[in-house]
Amino acid sequence: MNLSTADKPPAGLFDRLRPRIDAALAHYSQYDDDCPSHLAEAIRYAFLSPGKRLRPQLLLMATEACGGSVDAALPAACAVEMVHAYSLVHDDLPAMDDDDLRRDRPTCHKRFGEAVAILVGDALLARAFEVMASEIQPPTVAARCCAVLGRAAGATALVGGQAADLQFAERAADLAGDLHELQSIHDRKTGALFVAALELGGIVAGATPAQLAALVAYGQKVGLAFQITDDLLDVAGDPMAVGKRVAKDSANGKLTFPNVLGIDESRRRAAELVDDACAIIDELGPKAEPLVALARFVCSREK
Ligand code: IPE
Ligand code: IPE
Ligand code: MG
Ligand code: MG
Ligand code: MG
Repeated sequence: MNLSTADKPPAGLFDRLRPRIDAALAHYSQYDDDCPSHLAEAIRYAFLSPGKRLRPQLLLMATEACGGSVDAALPAACAVEMVHAYSLVHDDLPAMDDDDLRRDRPTCHKRFGEAVAILVGDALLARAFEVMASEIQPPTVAARCCAVLGRAAGATALVGGQAADLQFAERAADLAGDLHELQSIHDRKTGALFVAALELGGIVAGATPAQLAALVAYGQKVGLAFQITDDLLDVAGDPMAVGKRVAKDSANGKLTFPNVLGIDESRRRAAELVDDACAIIDELGPKAEPLVALARFVCSREK
């Protein structure tokens, strides 16, 4: 279904950088014999399966918008995708969302067992920081990148948001959640990694404080619009298109935008956030045009 009146992404928007992203992801997924072969297989299964690669795309587009080089930013783009892939593997575990389908395939724990899936997440998270610390130049920039990603992945951001998301679902059904709590969960569990991707792209490019501020503000809006759309796809998406189970959030007692505001108002908010994001990023000039197109895709997507 079309979740908004926004335009479809221009042809080629995602194809331009995708081959370089995919090659780099494959490159960083090679392990020597000290990695048990079943673990390496499970890591590649979860990491290289056909996701949208939105966060690396955002990171590389942010670098380009600030005049930086894609090659220099690729290690950071892969690191962000590693953190994202780890978060999905753990998010799907029985103790979390208990999902059996991801990217049109059995979830990692369904295919390899829970213990291996936990270890896949551990390995991806560790590899993210190894890759950034060793591949980004100069080392002072690498250290700054590690600090930004560590914060975004941690207890006050992604992991904290995931904990709050699960805690809400365990609360008594008569305790209504409010919009403030909902947005705080979404900003942390999803928005923080979007913001980090944009910030990292800017940092690697040597962005000015004003450019970084625009990237962060854009990332906050797009990240929230993205998770609102994810919530909408769960209630109104085409099960054949989304590649994961739908109609699970309400059944699991999750606090979501459609549950609090209804479908129409949630769509309106997502579209408004995207408009705001586009206005903000427009300040960076013509090189930021792909970020405008990507923001529009975020709330019109079908998966
Ligand atoms: C799914 O993210 C998890 C959320 C934060 C909602 P994506 O929709 O970007 O997942 P892939 O990488 O394309 O599978
Ligand atoms: C997941 O949110 C956010 C993270 C993985 C950090 P959801 O639980 O809504 O994501 P899906 O719907 O399973 O992809
Ligand atoms: Mg979840
Ligand atoms: Mg989930
Ligand atoms: Mg979801």
